Amino acid sequence: MNAYPDGVRVAPSILSADFARLGEQVERVIEAGGRVIHVDVMDGHFVPPITIGPLIVEALRDQVHGAGGWLDVHLMIERPEQQVEAFAKAGADSITVHFEATPHVHRAVQQVHEHGCRAGVAITPSTPAEALAELVDDVDLALCMSVNPGWGGQPFIEHSVDKLQRLRALLPDRVRLEVDGGVHGATAKAVVDAGADLLVAGSAVFGADDPPAAYRELAQAAGAR
Ligand code: DX5
Ligand code: ZN
Repeated sequence: MNAYPDGVRVAPSILSADFARLGEQVERVIEAGGRVIHVDVMDGHFVPPITIGPLIVEALRDQVHGAGGWLDVHLMIERPEQQVEAFAKAGADSITVHFEATPHVHRAVQQVHEHGCRAGVAITPSTPAEALAELVDDVDLALCMSVNPGWGGQPFIEHSVDKLQRLRALLPDRVRLEVDGGVHGATAKAVVDAGADLLVAGSAVFGADDPPAAYRELAQAAGAR
């Protein structure tokens, strides 16, 4: 596994990429400096859409790891603990499960660690920051959804800025704070100021006419590396 990318990072989400030329699109954002590639997994149950599975993680692993990058897997699926092994074997570096998706969040986090990956827990907009209070010593990252999970291109929910501040205050320094949904040039600085250091961006990068240029612009707006 590559070292955890340090500092503030923009994590392009392939959900908004052109899947007919996924490898080429990922290559271009890597060339532009992208080192954390975000993979949105949806099961048609926890959220209505069905997206992608371990096969895509496996297809990208050599390319991303070869560039010193990180595959950041966001599981928007019910009972995520049943899929941890498959994603770990496929090459995930971090695996994030939803607090709302299983009664056994702590066990799911343990399983992610047992399979050698960094463990994240995500919360939807209606779940309070304090839901993570009993997990802060066990997780490597906390993911604050700033839209309702399921779709790219939704507007940023403004109260997420306050929520990020509350999460940052709750988390030890070593725990990364990831924000996901509606992050673009106009919202990036506010979320970084609130304490986020991993900024997922789907439509703002892969939805743009020129994804590498959009990546660079967003990274600059965020003060990211
Ligand atoms: C939404 C996903 C996001 C999505 C964000 O459920 O978790 O990662 O790709 O898309 P944008 O950046 O377009 O809001
Ligand atoms: Zn996501």
